[in-house]
Amino acid sequence: MASKFYENKRLLITAGPTYERIDPVRFIGNFSSGKMGIAIADEAARRGASVDLVLGPTHHLPAEEGVTVHKVTSAQEMYDSCHALFDSSDVQVMAAAVADYRPAEMAEEKIKKSGGGMTIELVRTKDILASLGAIKKDQQVLVGFALETENELENAMGKLERKNADLIVLNSMKDEGAGFGHDTNRVTILDKRNNLIKFGLKSKAEVACDILDRIESYANED
Ligand code: CTP
Repeated sequence: MASKFYENKRLLITAGPTYERIDPVRFIGNFSSGKMGIAIADEAARRGASVDLVLGPTHHLPAEEGVTVHKVTSAQEMYDSCHALFDSSDVQVMAAAVADYRPAEMAEEKIKKSGGGMTIELVRTKDILASLGAIKKDQQVLVGFALETENELENAMGKLERKNADLIVLNSMKDEGAGFGHDTNRVTILDKRNNLIKFGLKSKAEVACDILDRIESYANED
C-alpha cells in the first residue's frame, strides 16, 4: 500500500533561476530551467501534498493542480515569498539556483555604452536556505541543493552544517546528463545523521521520487 505521509503535508519548494536587474532592460541570471524543482512539486502533489512552488523566471510550469505557483523574479522576491509561506509548511525543498550577487544599484534608465570598459558593483543577496535554517522548528524538514565541481562531498557536508539543513541533494556538474537544462540527473543525498546515498543517472521525475522517499524516511526515523 502506498504511504500516506504526504497527504497531510504542506511543501514549500523553490525552483528556477533568479534575475537580478542591472537596468530596465538587463539582468544577471543563470541557466537553471527549474525542471528539477518543478518535478518535485508535481510528484509531491501526486502523493497528496499541498504544494507552494516559488518559481523564478522560466517557461516551464508544473502539471499538477495541487501545486500553487508563486512567480518571482529576484532573490529578494524569492526570499520574501519563502518567508511568508514558511510557517505553514512542513517540508521545504530549496531547489532554486538563487543568484549569490546582485548589482549594488539598479539604474533607473537604460545604461548607455561609452568608449571604455564598464564595471558593475555587486553585493551579496540574502541566503534563503540559511535564513530558513536559522528559524526552522524541529519537526520541519529543510532540504537544500548543492551543485559542486570539486571536493563535492566535503563542500556539501559543509553546506548542510552551515545552513542548518536536514538533507542536502548533491548534483555533480562533472556527470554527463546531470544538472542544468537536462531531463536527467544523478544525485547523492546526505543528511544530518550522516547517511549518504548515491543514486544512478535517472530522469528528473524519478529523481523527484527518490528525494521525496528519502525525506519521508528521514522524517519517520525520528
Ligand atoms: N540558496 C539560497 N539562497 C541563496 C543562495 C543559495 O537559498 N541566496 C540555496 C540554493 O537553493 C541551494 C543551496 O542554497 O539549495 C546551495 O546553494 P549554493 O549557491 O551552491 O551554496 P553556496 O553556499 O552559495 O555555495 P558556494 O560556496 O558554491 O557559492
